[in-house]
Amino acid sequence: MTHSHLLERNHHEHVPVAVFAGSLAASRAVAAEIAALIRTRAKEGRPCVLGLATGSTPVSLYAELVRLHREEGLSFAGVTTFNLDEYYPLAPEQPQSYRRFMRTHLFDHVNLDPARTHLPSGTVPKPGVDAHCSAYEEAISAAGGIDLQILGIGRTGHIGFNEPGSPRHSLTRLVTLDPLTRRDAAADFGGDQATPRHALTMGVRSILNARRVILMAWGQHKADIVQQAIEGEVSSRVTASFLQEHANTLYVLDAAAAGSLTRYRTPWLIGPLAEQGLAWDERMTRRAILWLSQLKQKPILKLTDEDYNEAGLQDLSRAHGSAYEANLVGFYQMQHTITGWPGGRDPAKAKPGDAPVRPLRAASAGVFPKRVLVLSPHPDDDVISMGGTLCRLVDQGHEVHIAYEVSGAGAVSNEAAWRVLAFVRDSELADKANTTRLDQMCRALANGGTVETAPELLGWKALIRRHEAISGARVCGVPENRLHFLDLPFYAGEARSRRYGPADVAVLAKLLDQFQPHLIYAAGDLDDPHGTHRLCLQILRDTIAQAAEKKAAWLASAELWLYRGAWAEWPLDEIDLAVPLSPQEVLRRRRAIFRHETQKDQALFLGEDRREFWQRTEDRSRRLAQAYNALGLAEYEAMEAFRRYAPTDFVRTAAL
Ligand code: F6R
Repeated sequence: MTHSHLLERNHHEHVPVAVFAGSLAASRAVAAEIAALIRTRAKEGRPCVLGLATGSTPVSLYAELVRLHREEGLSFAGVTTFNLDEYYPLAPEQPQSYRRFMRTHLFDHVNLDPARTHLPSGTVPKPGVDAHCSAYEEAISAAGGIDLQILGIGRTGHIGFNEPGSPRHSLTRLVTLDPLTRRDAAADFGGDQATPRHALTMGVRSILNARRVILMAWGQHKADIVQQAIEGEVSSRVTASFLQEHANTLYVLDAAAAGSLTRYRTPWLIGPLAEQGLAWDERMTRRAILWLSQLKQKPILKLTDEDYNEAGLQDLSRAHGSAYEANLVGFYQMQHTITGWPGGRDPAKAKPGDAPVRPLRAASAGVFPKRVLVLSPHPDDDVISMGGTLCRLVDQGHEVHIAYEVSGAGAVSNEAAWRVLAFVRDSELADKANTTRLDQMCRALANGGTVETAPELLGWKALIRRHEAISGARVCGVPENRLHFLDLPFYAGEARSRRYGPADVAVLAKLLDQFQPHLIYAAGDLDDPHGTHRLCLQILRDTIAQAAEKKAAWLASAELWLYRGAWAEWPLDEIDLAVPLSPQEVLRRRRAIFRHETQKDQALFLGEDRREFWQRTEDRSRRLAQAYNALGLAEYEAMEAFRRYAPTDFVRTAAL
């Protein structure tokens, strides 16, 4: 890949890395390399052998390859493919099978000869598995070896399904999936129980045998494992780290996945900032001071010149005159993020000596009451992520509306649906004509059988979640007539291949135009397993861009605040607003989260963390309050944090 995105190596990184603003641009660059390889091989009259991956990461790569085929005549006639892995046991026609995935995203849309597409088979009988795996290795050799291997990385650091512990010399074989990998896959299979325990996968050695290897990763949920794989030692604990031993490999990352690399997280450890084109601006100063305070386990104002020197931050104390001056810059930045009046205060009730309402922007600061729009991707993100702030905004007199962007029907278990449907049947609330139908459904659900009427069932599941949302919002004081169930069209697609379009943007644009909000709160955590939050944020970005083009009146005075939820908290240095909560407010938020009963204990999307949502929320917001306190700021029970954007800046800078 010869382009400006390839980073100049530093001593922390043990492999070449290319970083792009977003995953689409990154995918296009990888597709371009693949296309060039295919064309070169075709000119030479030699076959081109590609090693392919599945999962959410390569979806945009395959979309681009399909586009190149359709619009630019890229021919796959001379291409042979080998996929990394397949669940075992699993039939190829099952919706979750990787064979089916490849057909959906690539094979069915390009001129690949089906006989030249290879995946390990999820249907070989157990006794034949070893022979099948050896035959797979032989087929790769017979094809001349893999020219270019595409990889994703799992949160365990796996490549293929080479889970932690897989040795360097491993070849194609049957493996047991790591519990974390199974949990990530559980959503596709409708729950833990139905998720396969095993898979067939090419081994570490089979992967390293490829002549070139490109590992792609998108999103902040991959940032830590990517950092370990690139900067950590080579170890079978993180099998992606074995790529450090490959002579022709490249990590292709989006900005979020690259975010934990030393060059971005703590660039002062690499060398003087000026040499890296960086400066000790306010943010960088704050980041370094927070880092130093955590390193030395001292409140900010107690950091000394020696502390700065020992940690290699002489540069910073010099830039500010002394450690004490630098401390103050960091301290006041953090202090100014705190306010108990997230929407501002009623000016009519202002008294002399009131604490300032700090982080609000001047343009909208005087407006009271404010129109506040909370965008909640799923029906419970509002209360999980910002339930305390939501209550405050309502109590402090603002007009708060909540828009639920998707139904969240996919996360309601059949058991939960059965409870509601069986109640309706047995209470005889349904009229006689429907009872037989209900009875059939209830029996199917109770027996764990496949429910053939999926669309109907999904509709009911959506209704269950809608009522939970109404009930949860009521705890926060938001009445039903201020709730908007948007049912964005993109959510109707199959979980793994969802894409948004103009229809989604139109729905949100209509709401914003009608409501003209002063404050918009939106989910800025891009880590939910199926990427719904990311899609919702992309839709918001496009909607704002459109509004800017049309010079929509509300844009000029609107502020956008991004919250993070069950999956991650904002790093301290990125927080612009922190709303403190009292113990009573924490309990009220808990009550609101409890109203989402279907998401308790058996929720399908808990991810790697087995705690329930209310527990995670409380731990997260308590830990944030403790972190503030450890910096030497006031001690609160809990805090909720937000990052501010001027909407038009967000459109320009958001790396989604
Ligand atoms: C897929 C595969 C896996 C995935 C990894 C990341 O064929 O072998 O290693 O690449 O689990 O999955 P996503 O891309 O869904 O995050």
